[in-house]
Amino acid sequence: MKILNLIAKTRSVRRYKEDEKVSMKKLMYIAEAARVVGSAGNRQRLRLLLVNDERCDEIFKEIRFASYLDWNGPEVGQRPAAYIVVMTAEEPDTNLSIDIGIAAQAMLMTATEEKLGGCMFRSFDREKLGAILGKQPYMPALVISIGTPDEVVILQDKRPGDDRPYYRDVYDHHLVPKIDIDTLVLE
Ligand SMILES: Cc1cc2nc3c(=O)[nH]c(=O)nc-3n(C[C@H](O)[C@H](O)[C@H](O)COP(=O)(O)O)c2cc1C
Repeated sequence: MKILNLIAKTRSVRRYKEDEKVSMKKLMYIAEAARVVGSAGNRQRLRLLLVNDERCDEIFKEIRFASYLDWNGPEVGQRPAAYIVVMTAEEPDTNLSIDIGIAAQAMLMTATEEKLGGCMFRSFDREKLGAILGKQPYMPALVISIGTPDEVVILQDKRPGDDRPYYRDVYDHHLVPKIDIDTLVLE
């Protein structure tokens, strides 16, 4: 697959086939992407917590799904089978935040290539989730859900006047409008 196709296919997926487990071997494979990406000054300050056991329920309770939808997140049976929690020992500064984004996108793309899907989450209480995970001094900076997709996510061109960040259509597909290339690229 062309890398651009993989990037376009790498969408935020929030509903999964929960009974399809994600093995620790698969999570380690995805984590390898975070190991080899760039890092400001090559300081490599990120640490990853790979979770595919009963702790998934605890993480699920702490993250907020698609706050722009009138939705409380996936039902039992469609929840993430695994998580990769990106942890840092300090409050992320700008470079560390960029590192987190680069690593997270690389892992999501790797998951997509493995026929999995995922979503990044920043909506959680860092202190509360950090206490639950118990890996001090490392605290959660970004949560990535992982699982076998059980929803259709479609990219579409953003229409003038339509400012919805994303929405669901009558088929329950999740639509994600993106600005066109002439808007993105400045003259
Ligand atoms: C840094 C970051 C934080 C995010 N936090 C959340 C979150 O807390 N909850 C959620 O449901 N989605 C979250 N998302 C997913 C975005 O909502 C998603 O990227 C956006 O709707 C566009 O969809 P797409 O990823 O398919 O292009 C986050 C994405 C990024 C990059």
